[in-house]
Amino acid sequence: MITKKETDIPPSEITDEGLYLNRREFIAAAAALVVTGAAPDLFAREGDADPKFKVGKRGAYAGGEKTTPILDATHYNNFYEFSTEKEDVAERSKNFRTRPWTVSVEGHVNKPKVYDIDEIMKMFPLEERIYRFRCVEGWSMVIPWVGFPLGDFMKRCEPTSNAKFVEFMTLKDQKQMPGQTRNVLDWPYVEGLRLDEALNPLAMLTVGMYGKVLPNQNGAPLRLVVPWKYGFKNIKSIVRIRFVEQMPISAWMKANPGEYGFYSNVNPEVDHPRWSQARERRIGEIAKRKTLMFNGYGEQVAHMYEGMDLRKYF
Ligand code: MTE
Repeated sequence: MITKKETDIPPSEITDEGLYLNRREFIAAAAALVVTGAAPDLFAREGDADPKFKVGKRGAYAGGEKTTPILDATHYNNFYEFSTEKEDVAERSKNFRTRPWTVSVEGHVNKPKVYDIDEIMKMFPLEERIYRFRCVEGWSMVIPWVGFPLGDFMKRCEPTSNAKFVEFMTLKDQKQMPGQTRNVLDWPYVEGLRLDEALNPLAMLTVGMYGKVLPNQNGAPLRLVVPWKYGFKNIKSIVRIRFVEQMPISAWMKANPGEYGFYSNVNPEVDHPRWSQARERRIGEIAKRKTLMFNGYGEQVAHMYEGMDLRKYF
């Protein structure tokens, strides 16, 4: 995603070897940990549930596709607050403190409030939903998220008629997030949705994945998941949710408005200025596959964009 034009090769084309090497190192490290008896939570079998979670409904929203191995989803990350190297994020974020943690609800709402994350975790029944996840760089995964509909949370906040958009903000803390000492982005990371998009039943606030508490590298303790949009809309480690009248300027729009728009809907017909968006590589597969309009969620979301020129509003 780095917007500097050091090379015109899309990152999706050059990461495979790194991913492969990293996986080898990872397996070696995992074996060492098992020997010493220090195997952490993440080494458990995919599908093991976290006893802290009472997951109610479980839904597959990815056409029955196989989920991406948990090791890939947790060791190939974009989280620039920690590193711009996908393979380094897990290690660099391992000491990130996610308690105590508060999320402040502000702006045009009848019920502004500073929530404790543990209060949020208990507010709604947790659901597991398997979604496709398509990164703007051209790779994709299938991930079982654990969370609840963003709309359920928003309704508790009682937005007023002035609320037209929702803006999300990540923690800013240079001491804990070494990447924030570099000006790759104008920190803190900010994202936004139009009110109707945020209320769409597919939009989720997530607290876990693969039946477990979200690992730090995947955006603990609370992150957004909007499966019909490119990965970068899925803001991690949220500390503020603000209801606003004007369209928020996201961190990526600020960094490069010609390349990253507000909507950022997955759209195989609108290319990124530096690469095609027509195809994608599912992590773990070799052949590329065709990218689906709205990442395959058109039935649920296309109506929100009727009459809009999606080349202009990319
Ligand atoms: N959120 C914050 N705060 N900082 C980031 O750098 N990267 C985004 C998004 N959310 C990012 C972020 C991008 S570019 C992607 S593709 C996804 O997180 C990656 O999520 P994952 O690591 O869980 O796969």
